[in-house]
Amino acid sequence: MRIDILTLFPEMFDSPFAFSILRRARTNGLIDIVLSNIRDYAKDSYKKVDDKPYGGGAGMVMMCQPIFDCLETVQKQDERKGRLIILTPQGKKFDQALARDLAKEERLIFIAGRYEGFDERIKTAGDAEQISIGDFVLSGGELAAMVIIDAVVRLIPGALGDDDSALNDSFSDNLLEYPQYTRPENFKGMQVPDVLLGGNHKDIEKWRKQQAIEKTRQNRPDLLK
Ligand code: ADE
Repeated sequence: MRIDILTLFPEMFDSPFAFSILRRARTNGLIDIVLSNIRDYAKDSYKKVDDKPYGGGAGMVMMCQPIFDCLETVQKQDERKGRLIILTPQGKKFDQALARDLAKEERLIFIAGRYEGFDERIKTAGDAEQISIGDFVLSGGELAAMVIIDAVVRLIPGALGDDDSALNDSFSDNLLEYPQYTRPENFKGMQVPDVLLGGNHKDIEKWRKQQAIEKTRQNRPDLLK
C-alpha cells in the first residue's frame, strides 16, 4: 500500500513510523510512506499557505492553491488513484470498521491541515472523504493521520507477527476485548481467574465471551445497541 501524506510538518511523522509494527511494515515493503510538504508548493516569496477568512473572524484558513498543486503532483507520481482523505473534526467519525475498509486499498492519500481549517473548496473538490478521529479539536490533522495509519496498517495481512492477533482485537465483533493475564498466577495477592489455569478451551472461550460482553456493557454500552 502506498500512503501519501500532505502536511506542513513532515518531520512530525519521523518517530511514529520508526518503531514496532509500522517500522516492520515499511522495511518489509508492505507499505510505502511518501511525505510531501505543502509549503513547497507556495508561490510567493513568503511561502504563504494560509490567509484571512472571507467574512472576517479569528484565525487563518489554508489556501486552495498550495494544496491543489501539491495533490496534483502527488497524484501523478503513481498510477494507483487511491482514496483521498482530509482530516478534519467536521468529518465522519473514524472507527474499526472504517479501518478495515481502508486496509483493503492500494493507496491512501491524507491531507493534514493546520490553522483554523481548510478553504471549503479543498474539502468538496473531487471525491475526498472527510474523516475525524473523535469529537475534540487537535491543533492539526497530523496526529489524526498517524492514528488512522497505525490502525489501518496493522490490519494489512502480514503486518502483525501473528495474523490471528487482530481477530480478537476490541471492536472486531462490536465488543471490547476480554481481559488477558500472564505469569505469575498470583501477583501481590491478585489472582489469575481459575478458568484460565484449567486448560478447558470451551470453558475459557465461554468465560472470555462473557467478560467481553460485561466489559462492553460497563464501559461502552453504546456498542451493544
Ligand atoms: N484536525 C483537528 N482535529 C481533528 C480531529 N478530531 N480529527 C481529524 N482531524 C482533526
